[in-house]
Amino acid sequence: METMKLIQQFQEIFPENSHEEKVRLFFSPGRINLIGEHTDYNGGHVFPCAITFGTYGAARKRKDDRIRLHSLNFPNSGVIEFSLSDLNYQKHHGWANYPKGMFRYLLETGAKLSCGLDILIQGNIPNGAGLSSSASLEMLIGVMVNEMFELGLDRLTLVELGKKVENEFIGVNSGIMDQFAVGMGKKDCGILLDCNTLDYQYAPLNLLNYQIIIMNTNKRRELSDSKYNERRQECETALSQLQTELAIDSLGDLSQEDFEANKHLIENETLVKRARHAVYENRRTLKALSSLRSNELKRFGQLMNDSHRSLRDDYEVTGIELDTLVEAAWEQEGTLGARMTGAGFGGCAIAIVETDGVETFIEEVGKKYEETIGHQADFYVANVGEGAKEITREVLS
Ligand code: GLA
Repeated sequence: METMKLIQQFQEIFPENSHEEKVRLFFSPGRINLIGEHTDYNGGHVFPCAITFGTYGAARKRKDDRIRLHSLNFPNSGVIEFSLSDLNYQKHHGWANYPKGMFRYLLETGAKLSCGLDILIQGNIPNGAGLSSSASLEMLIGVMVNEMFELGLDRLTLVELGKKVENEFIGVNSGIMDQFAVGMGKKDCGILLDCNTLDYQYAPLNLLNYQIIIMNTNKRRELSDSKYNERRQECETALSQLQTELAIDSLGDLSQEDFEANKHLIENETLVKRARHAVYENRRTLKALSSLRSNELKRFGQLMNDSHRSLRDDYEVTGIELDTLVEAAWEQEGTLGARMTGAGFGGCAIAIVETDGVETFIEEVGKKYEETIGHQADFYVANVGEGAKEITREVLS
């Protein structure tokens, strides 16, 4: 079993164990978003779920106050080491800045850590695919430290600390969706989250004879962070222009009708398009939940398709790779719906596909993609799993 191997590798990388502390194991998932894209930072709704791909971590307490980290995904970075009394961002610490930020903000809550940790990380989320490997790592460390030092912090606090790492330590202005999905995921359920109030509800994903397929463009999201922040800014500008006459706090507060009646307040056409996406996508997400609850899967799929069109035409965050995959998926018989998932500009799309036709689907969509784009896409079946948790017992029993 992979996790047993992780313990062995842990002993090899961190051989010294002077006071017989146990190695404990944790798992934190990645996520996909079913619908509700670029709505979280606009005070709207999202509908993500945790997947069974994720990040494993093995950890053991030390005698001093040092944190030593090694990732089997970045073996060339070696063991990265710092002390709990020096938790500043350092560029050359690369991936380890995510755990470091988490330690920093955990301590800032007033939590007391009696010692440092040795930590070995291994993830199986496809690299750079936009399935939230960074939120997965943040929540892994959050849950690990909370459990190992019995801090008693609730899940939502850990979720908010993860978001703070992203926003303030790393400098990406993202919303709360990723950390929430990773932290709060539930097997075979989507989570409808109101990002304004943080009210949420689980919705069982009864997909009957359908499966969720993840389609990876294998295009890394290079420009994404700057474009992401640009979209955020555009929405904020549109909001402030609407606020000259409307008493609203976010675009998520607007109905489609109120938006249509007031969009003249927004000065330029590009900003109207951005705001229109945010308002309509928010409503679509609520409609998607009710179609799922009433077993109208076809309708759910159509809403996914509308979501992609809006992200392509109004929000302009798709690009040729995602569009090619999604449009090829739409053409396949037995596809209920398909759309990009996550920030966009590359990364992954998802499709809901009839189980019997999955092989043909992968073959046909894969062929079309390679012909048009010139490199291969990857396909995975998405299994919907639990949020971040300790797995020591599950593995050792
Ligand atoms: C990224 C961000 C999320 C969210 C999505 C778009 O995944 O981290 O907060 O904004 O993009 O829906």
